[in-house]
Amino acid sequence: MRRRLLISYLSITCFVLVALALPLGLVYGQSQERALTNRLQSDGFALALRADEPLAQRDTATLTGLVHELAAQTGAGVVVVDETGRVLASAGAHQPPPGASTAGVADLDAARRGHRVSGRRASPGGDVLAVTVPVVWRDGTVGALRMSSSLSVVEHAVERNWLLLGGLAGLIALIVLLVSTLLARSFTRPLAELDAGASRLGDGDLGVRVEVPDDPPELRRLARSFNTTAERLDSLLGSQRAFVADASHQLRTPLAALRLRLENVEADGPHHRPEDLDGALAEVQRLTALVESLLVLTRAEDAPAPSADVALGPLVEARLDAWWAVAAERGVQLDADVASLAVRSEPGRLEQVLDNLLSNALDVAPRGSSVRVVARPVGERVRLEVHDAGPGMTLEQRTRAFDRFWRSPSARRDRSGFGLGLPIVRRLVLADGGAVTLADAAAGGLAVIVSLPAAPLPAPVRVPV
Ligand SMILES: Nc1ncnc2c1ncn2[C@@H]1O[C@H](COP(=O)(O)OP(=O)(O)O)[C@@H](O)[C@H]1O
Ligand SMILES: [Mg+2]
Repeated sequence: MRRRLLISYLSITCFVLVALALPLGLVYGQSQERALTNRLQSDGFALALRADEPLAQRDTATLTGLVHELAAQTGAGVVVVDETGRVLASAGAHQPPPGASTAGVADLDAARRGHRVSGRRASPGGDVLAVTVPVVWRDGTVGALRMSSSLSVVEHAVERNWLLLGGLAGLIALIVLLVSTLLARSFTRPLAELDAGASRLGDGDLGVRVEVPDDPPELRRLARSFNTTAERLDSLLGSQRAFVADASHQLRTPLAALRLRLENVEADGPHHRPEDLDGALAEVQRLTALVESLLVLTRAEDAPAPSADVALGPLVEARLDAWWAVAAERGVQLDADVASLAVRSEPGRLEQVLDNLLSNALDVAPRGSSVRVVARPVGERVRLEVHDAGPGMTLEQRTRAFDRFWRSPSARRDRSGFGLGLPIVRRLVLADGGAVTLADAAAGGLAVIVSLPAAPLPAPVRVPV
């Protein structure tokens, strides 16, 4: 990933640099050559103006002076020829000596005919830039002169320019490389950290968290959701472990009692006391009930979301009917005040909730009192309440009542219940998107308040006649 980022940054940079530097270098070379031509041309014209009269009069001494002066000033080679092409004066390396004939040298021949010529020419000392102009005296061409300069100066300048451009491009590429390495590292560091975190999580280290980067937003979101996932896994596994520990602890007591009873039966042989065997059976029943409650709680922990609209009236009616016999035996009256309401719930779930709450209420309701089930709408929700006239709960007890395996001190003394009823109720109500709280009932006992999302009343089933 990092290498790919670097390669893409660098290739773009190199492309831009080449696209910019190449034309720049070429234009520079051309402009250098043009500047030299211009210089030679203006020097040539100046000499032609001063050399006209001496040339017309064949004053070689003056001409030689002028030519040498100019050659010394400019470093260029200078040749002056008369109208026949004979050299009258020359200066500089590789120039024809005075007296030599240049007839046949194309540029000088053309200039003697009145033309101006310039361009690159091959010469014994390497390529030169040559400018040849006619020398005119009183409306007639009296000869020609040629200025030539070695191209090596231009070539050196162009070479230096190329080197400079290359160096600059290299420097820019180096800076880009540095900056993009830092950038690529800042991109890939959170990724590498996430990678390491994920593999540690995979190895079972649930405490692992990664640093959340400020930028880019995608990585920030990814790091955040990684952390929340790890946190959730951690707490889920933690509560799972606590649950297993609690459950094992709760199973230990009845198992120990069962072993004691069975050891007594074994020791007494065929003449064992029948209470021991009955006690053993009772422990087995208690164990079975505990395991069943645990199963119900486990199922409630991952109960599905509600799928139906349930009418409360008939449901409460049916549950009160089911508990009527128990209530009658304990001398407790069952009342209902349920308006025609419906809630969003999973079928069968509210029955379990009511059964647990009614069982609790009947356990504590004093003889002659009544247990009331009330339901009424509150905004978008429905409040379903179960009131009793029992001892109620202290504030401290209410905060603990929904903890798994929590029982009131009196229930612990009597070894009645397992403290799983209210936790089961809470899980089921939560699964329906509701909430459950405990409050004081008007009659002095406890009021369990279940709040559920309201639903439109389901249409009555039409029975064909
Ligand atoms: N209506 C109530 N009034 C007073 N105490 C209650 C009431 N309902 C439950 N409790 C107390 O809360 C404890 C936990 O109840 P619950 O979770 O239903 O467990 P269990 O399975 O033992 O009934 C019980 O020990 C009981 O003493
Ligand atoms: Mg209970």
